Amino acid sequence: MRPDQLFDLTGRVVVITGGAGLLGQRHAEAVAGAGGIPVLADARADTFMTEDPRFKDRFGPQATVIPTDITDPLRVDALLEAVVDRYGRIDVLINNAANNPKVEAASDVRSSRLETLPVEQWHADLAVGLTGAFLCSRVLGGEMARRGKGVIVNVASDLALIGPDQRIYREPGRLDAQQPVKPVTYSVVKAGLLGLTRYLATYWAEAGVRVNAISPGGVRTDQPDEFVQRLSNLIPLGRMARVDEYEGAILFLCSDASSYMTGANLVVDGGRTAW
Ligand SMILES: NC(=O)c1ccc[n+]([C@@H]2O[C@H](COP(=O)([O-])OP(=O)(O)OC[C@H]3O[C@@H](n4cnc5c(N)ncnc54)[C@H](O)[C@@H]3O)[C@@H](O)[C@H]2O)c1
Repeated sequence: MRPDQLFDLTGRVVVITGGAGLLGQRHAEAVAGAGGIPVLADARADTFMTEDPRFKDRFGPQATVIPTDITDPLRVDALLEAVVDRYGRIDVLINNAANNPKVEAASDVRSSRLETLPVEQWHADLAVGLTGAFLCSRVLGGEMARRGKGVIVNVASDLALIGPDQRIYREPGRLDAQQPVKPVTYSVVKAGLLGLTRYLATYWAEAGVRVNAISPGGVRTDQPDEFVQRLSNLIPLGRMARVDEYEGAILFLCSDASSYMTGANLVVDGGRTAW
């Protein structure tokens, strides 16, 4: 098979939770570039004008946005119904949605530090990152299992594999107990997604549904230079990722290029977890 055939997604319906976010939009563009039909399922779906020609230019003529809250079982059932009504089927689910607190800009560290993290925050983060992925997998993955073919990709993180190095988030002039940190929920959600990946991969192996995870490292956006430098020092390639550097891995996992792969975690982290 030629490389373009291996990665081809022509006509495949790919539901991307958190599709309106920073990386979700890039996953959608990559899917559209390979001929697939991205469905952006997001709580913030109102940011897109689907009839705008620019939307179709970016995501393809058949792409759509479905407003949804993946923490709500009824909304997830409605998501499947809307996808099947519109396209007749679903081929791929990318569990990408998450609560992503921006630690480096934290002004209220009480909501992120272990000692004071509100239990409501714990429930909210797990509700999106884990319960949402479980519900979408059960409902949309269940439909793929009934049809005998499908793919699920769970978006984890390098922090699914290693503990956060809290030193990179430190701000000068603060007491230790006032320093911002990456919250525990991030590690728990991302590590949990790897467990979900292995469970679903073995549960649905004979049903024809492959389930893998991707563990991306941090993407460079508008973080302060000092933070970027500290994090880059922990990465053998010496830099954070560009926002387009996960597209190849996403296409690999979504397409037949990864046909003999299930239950695995594809680490794309500039080598951070190798150090
Ligand atoms: N950006 C990074 O540096 C990075 C690094 C490693 C892993 N990741 C992971 O990649 C994924 C995407 O990250 P991102 O940077 O694009 O995040 P983002 O915050 O830009 O996007 C997340 C999206 O999820 C949506 N969402 C939140 N709650 C929802 C709900 N209940 N129902 C439906 N949608 C909901 C949000 O509206 C948002 O559009 C996340 O799982 C994140 O943890 C990101």
